[in-house]
Amino acid sequence: LKTEFDFTFADYPSHVLIRDEFPSVNEIIHAFYPAAGLAEELPILAVCDTNTESLARKILGDDNRKIRLLVLESGEKSKSWESVETILRAAVEAGLGRDGLFIGIGGGVTGDLTGFAASIYMRGSRLCLVSTTLLGMVDASLGGKTGIDLSGLKNLAGTFYPAELVYLPLAALYTLPEREWKSGMAELIKTAVLDSGEFLDLVKKLTFLEEEGRNSSVYRECLKECISRSVAYKGRVVEADPKETGTMRPLLNLGHTFGHALEEAAGLGVISHGEAVAWGMARACKLGLTLGITPPERASEIIEILVNSGYETRTPHPLVKSVDSLMNAMMADKKQRSGHGFGVAKLRFIVPDAESARVVSASDILSGDTLLYKILSGE
Ligand SMILES: NC(=O)c1ccc[n+]([C@@H]2O[C@H](COP(=O)([O-])OP(=O)(O)OC[C@H]3O[C@@H](n4cnc5c(N)ncnc54)[C@H](O)[C@@H]3O)[C@@H](O)[C@H]2O)c1
Repeated sequence: LKTEFDFTFADYPSHVLIRDEFPSVNEIIHAFYPAAGLAEELPILAVCDTNTESLARKILGDDNRKIRLLVLESGEKSKSWESVETILRAAVEAGLGRDGLFIGIGGGVTGDLTGFAASIYMRGSRLCLVSTTLLGMVDASLGGKTGIDLSGLKNLAGTFYPAELVYLPLAALYTLPEREWKSGMAELIKTAVLDSGEFLDLVKKLTFLEEEGRNSSVYRECLKECISRSVAYKGRVVEADPKETGTMRPLLNLGHTFGHALEEAAGLGVISHGEAVAWGMARACKLGLTLGITPPERASEIIEILVNSGYETRTPHPLVKSVDSLMNAMMADKKQRSGHGFGVAKLRFIVPDAESARVVSASDILSGDTLLYKILSGE
């Protein structure tokens, strides 16, 4: 079982460690500043949210070095310019120089915010992420995307700035609320669909073991292996296509075009990201079936895993019955922006094929609007 990874994302090295327990602050500091004496001198800013504060304090301990802890409000609403400014100001107050260290301790929101702030503070400072959600571990903490939401659009502004060091401490997961488990599990299933039948079988085993609870050692080992495979897959893809300019990284958006539309149409935060992605994957299967890209048995297998994991896969979605609102949200999605404005012709879908998945542009689909309408309404 691989628990340590060394990636290079567009010239940025990124070291990822999967652990049972939390790292200590000393371990983090010495990884960044191995020279004796230096670690004592350099100020550090740790960022967490109101739900990860106790975890952050566990990691930071009572160290009397110059470590400042900034606690932000938890939740997607915090992914704003204001939060980035708060982090930057805290960094100045803490006395961080260009080689100062930012440590983000939390889920994807804390990671995206801390990463964004670190990437622009003095044109780029040092960054460590300690991921505390399943979604963070299998997705958000890896691969360098940082960002904030703006004008009601998710991740509208951001940078590419991979963390030099990423810890994935499984101990963090056992305080995670159910909704957040489900959110991360959807991304895990997504990665397994993209990667291989072997990984998908492992996810099925995990779902089966989960029925007996998440405390058994066999469940935890299986989860660790799933996380490890996820990290390996995403790392490989981002190394091959760091800025999403090629054909590889877009595949990670499987379920996202439909999922983001659902998330936005329901109102940001009403449906969790993962639940929306799970629903989106079911729609992608339906689209793939209709286009003859997804073999029927593959579509059934994916949908069965989603249903067994407790996801809503039906259409219309019980929380968003208006197909128009979904279509509108889909067209406004910033991923559709290509400098030429919005339009259904620019929509892209990732559709499972026999082995992995492939990109389909709405403009390639005959009678695209009508077909999409059907997929979204379930008619
Ligand atoms: N950068 C990327 O590549 C990337 C990829 C996917 C998603 N994202 C972003 O990640 C965000 C979603 O990530 P998320 O689901 O981790 O959200 P999150 O950071 O908001 O965490 C979810 C909730 O769990 C709480 N929490 C975190 N760790 C906990 C723990 N160990 N115990 C108890 N509660 C805990 C948080 O306070 C929050 O309330 C979105 O903003 C999304 O855009 C980024």
